[in-house]
Amino acid sequence: MTADDVPEVLALEPVLFPEEFWSEEAYREELADPGGTRHYVVVEDDDGRFAGWAGLAAVGAQADVLTIGVRPELQGRGFGARMLTALLDEAAARGCPEVFLDVRADNDRARRLYERFGFTPVGVRKRYYQPSGVDAIVMVRDSRRSGAPAGQEVGK
Ligand SMILES: CC(C)(COP(=O)(O)OP(=O)(O)OC[C@H]1O[C@@H](n2cnc3c(N)ncnc32)[C@H](O)[C@@H]1OP(=O)(O)O)[C@@H](O)C(=O)NCCC(=O)NCCS
Repeated sequence: MTADDVPEVLALEPVLFPEEFWSEEAYREELADPGGTRHYVVVEDDDGRFAGWAGLAAVGAQADVLTIGVRPELQGRGFGARMLTALLDEAAARGCPEVFLDVRADNDRARRLYERFGFTPVGVRKRYYQPSGVDAIVMVRDSRRSGAPAGQEVGK
């Protein structure tokens, strides 16, 4: 992902994340790659159209999926899985066996995606999202325990 992708991302942020969308400044700071800890990717459809983006932070032995989003009309075609694979491969390459993320308790599609990749729930941030009051579920994937190499889905 480069600065050229930011306008596409900013247009989708409030659509995909109405309660927690990131600002242009936030993306500029992320893409400045503080401490060399960030890895952001984008995915395009067959026509070269921007389809989605995702970002990882890797600090020490721990990595976090910071964001992942796919254009609504292109969801359910494997773009999310492709980007998650890329982030998990990057975490492995940086020596981070543990990858954490937060997901809304009511986000069934995202939770299914993460579970397919071997993430398991380890905690709850009560009423984290406001004003809805929806909980955030903290999930972790430990590549030493998941049985799946690098970014692969469990069982594949
Ligand atoms: C969560 C999100 C990133 C997943 O991206 P995606 O591209 O839709 O994910 P995938 O296509 O890889 O997988 C989603 C579903 O599509 C199915 N799928 C994947 N490839 C497919 C294909 N070629 N044909 C049909 N279905 C397919 C998967 O089996 C999966 O099914 P399920 O939801 O029943 O489990 C996306 O839905 C999104 O942007 N949501 C809004 C933002 C958001 O919630 N982000 C996560 C914050 S934690």
